[in-house]
Amino acid sequence: MKPTVLLIHGFPLDHAIWDHQVKALEPVCRVVAPDLRGFGGSTGPPGLWTMEDFARDLLRLMDGLGVDRFVPVGHSMGGYILFAIHRIAPRRLAGAALVASRPTADTPEMRGKRGESAASVLERGVSVMEESMMPRLFAPDVPHPIAEKVRSAIRRASPLGVAAALRGIAARPDATPQLARFDFPTLVVSGQQDAIVPAGEAEAMARAIPAAKLVCCRRSGHMPMVEEPEIVSNSLVELACSLS
Ligand code: MLT
Repeated sequence: MKPTVLLIHGFPLDHAIWDHQVKALEPVCRVVAPDLRGFGGSTGPPGLWTMEDFARDLLRLMDGLGVDRFVPVGHSMGGYILFAIHRIAPRRLAGAALVASRPTADTPEMRGKRGESAASVLERGVSVMEESMMPRLFAPDVPHPIAEKVRSAIRRASPLGVAAALRGIAARPDATPQLARFDFPTLVVSGQQDAIVPAGEAEAMARAIPAAKLVCCRRSGHMPMVEEPEIVSNSLVELACSLS
């Protein structure tokens, strides 16, 4: 049977970052690429949304589609959510992929910064995130249309969603102890020029996962799925085919 791959976008983006991967994966598996609550075309209640809240939304989505086991693919915050899915329902993971993500929790300093960013997004809008993140998302030679596509995704996020997710990201636990229990095929993708999740962190994560395959994207920053889309798509197709 064809596996189901669930593409989980990072912060503060939406499903459009996966366009290349959706096209590449569709011939070999069922692909689900939602907008998380508060992002793209989805809404949610005000407050603090834990990674578990996002995970439960996605588990409900998969239940509604009649899917039991699936392969979550998490980009950055999407990876934090993947770890929450693993904490809640480990049996449902048939495989996994972590793209430019990390298992560790925030430092106290980082938590403080996220709180400040949440307050300024509620006051001034998502342009605050656009200004702070756009210069840090890509390798220096990123083509303009690619950067603009990502900028548009940031502009589609709601201030309420961005603030609630920032607070939830800050509250996430350390997932490092879970890595040894990843007893399914796992792909780890790192951007060698990533200014947000340094490649060394993603590589250390791959070493801690028993059945991990590491793919290093030499010309990518934090967005390998749009900066080197063929490499990411081919690696995901290979993972999906190995599970069918
Ligand atoms: C993301 O890309 O999802 C965020 O940059 C993650 C983070 O800030 O930790």
